[in-house]
Amino acid sequence: MVSADCLNHPIMPAHRYEQLVQSVVDYAIYMLDPTGHVVSWNAGAQRIKGYRADEVIGQHFSLFFTPQDCADGRPDHLLRQALDQGVAQDEGWRVRKDGTQFWALAALDVIRDDNGQIIGLAKVTRDITDRRESALQLDAVRAQLFQAQKLEALGQLTGGLAHDFNNMLTIIMSSARLALATQDPARTQRMLQHILEAGQRGIELTQQLLSFARHRKLDVASVAPADLVAATRGLLEHALPGSIKLKVLLQPDLPLIEVDAGQLQMVLLNLLFNARDAITGQGVIALTVDGVELTGEVDGLLGSFVRFQVQDSGEGIPADVIPRIFEPFFTTKPFGKGTGLGLSQVYGFARQSGGAICVDSEPGRGTCMQLYLPMYQDQTDSQPNR
Ligand SMILES: Nc1ncnc2c1ncn2[C@@H]1O[C@H](COP(=O)(O)OP(=O)(O)OP(=O)(O)O)[C@@H](O)[C@H]1O
Ligand SMILES: [Mg+2]
Repeated sequence: MVSADCLNHPIMPAHRYEQLVQSVVDYAIYMLDPTGHVVSWNAGAQRIKGYRADEVIGQHFSLFFTPQDCADGRPDHLLRQALDQGVAQDEGWRVRKDGTQFWALAALDVIRDDNGQIIGLAKVTRDITDRRESALQLDAVRAQLFQAQKLEALGQLTGGLAHDFNNMLTIIMSSARLALATQDPARTQRMLQHILEAGQRGIELTQQLLSFARHRKLDVASVAPADLVAATRGLLEHALPGSIKLKVLLQPDLPLIEVDAGQLQMVLLNLLFNARDAITGQGVIALTVDGVELTGEVDGLLGSFVRFQVQDSGEGIPADVIPRIFEPFFTTKPFGKGTGLGLSQVYGFARQSGGAICVDSEPGRGTCMQLYLPMYQDQTDSQPNR
């Protein structure tokens, strides 16, 4: 950034700096006096904001803010922050001369003279409207993919659930018939109890399904891994054949994590469905959850993480396939069996949550997928918020 030192640098005369700053067209670079009035203006500022130098020099920089931001005192707040802390950064809507708006990334740095006195501020603003729009579009696509994935997962779950509901209805019907036929009050009581239990189980199942299917925005909250695993297990039991055993191993007192619980549930289901699909005949899936300290060995991550491992005794993944498994639409499953979106959703979720996903697999020896998610930062002074 421009500093008073640079302006006096022996090998580059001040007018060269002036030329350099003037020729930059992608950034608006201008100076403010300590009260926030514009004192210099470059070509980029003219291009981005639409004002000529003679139109803005002497004006207060709140001219570039929206009326709402001005009413909220945002320009003054930024100026004060820069004067107090030496620097202030901001991202938000700014107004051009013609009244149109652009999304700006702005930095305000204090400039001091040789005695440390503040002589002004350097303001550098970049128009990142395009970048913001592509980020928003990416979010929208991700949300659509997430919905599509959820429907897919629901489809996988409902087959097993229909079977379970049938069993419950059979219990309810036969108990009711027996209760109607008997004269023994104690037997009637027992039958009614069976009906209640089967009905209760049905309610729990529909609630689990409904909470999973609900359309929700990314909803980040502190989540207790054990609760989430319990809910996922409840859903999954109906989607696993009897020949596959599910073992769940949870480290006691797992720390909270800060993620979207609905998405994490889907991520776990995706990993567990993949493990199920890799097993032909008898097999075991182990879901292990523990806390780990990372020092850069996994994707350069540092700090406390919760690790979810899904280990299966399935067919494993050939070495030449491993690099492709996280690609969207990559699948080795027959047409109609897989969309190839499961692991790309897992990957996107891990990255978005500040974590990572790793794979360890060998043909014939099964696969272990490891998902790392950052520990919730505020564990000491806040209660779990479920
Ligand atoms: N546990 C696993 N064991 C063996 N292969 C796996 C395992 N997990 C993923 N794969 C491989 O990675 C590919 C991509 O997985 P992904 O979950 O993205 O898609 P899919 O399972 O094929 O389809 P979808 O999840 O959309 O139903 C799979 O087709 C499979 O070849
Ligand atoms: Mg899958």
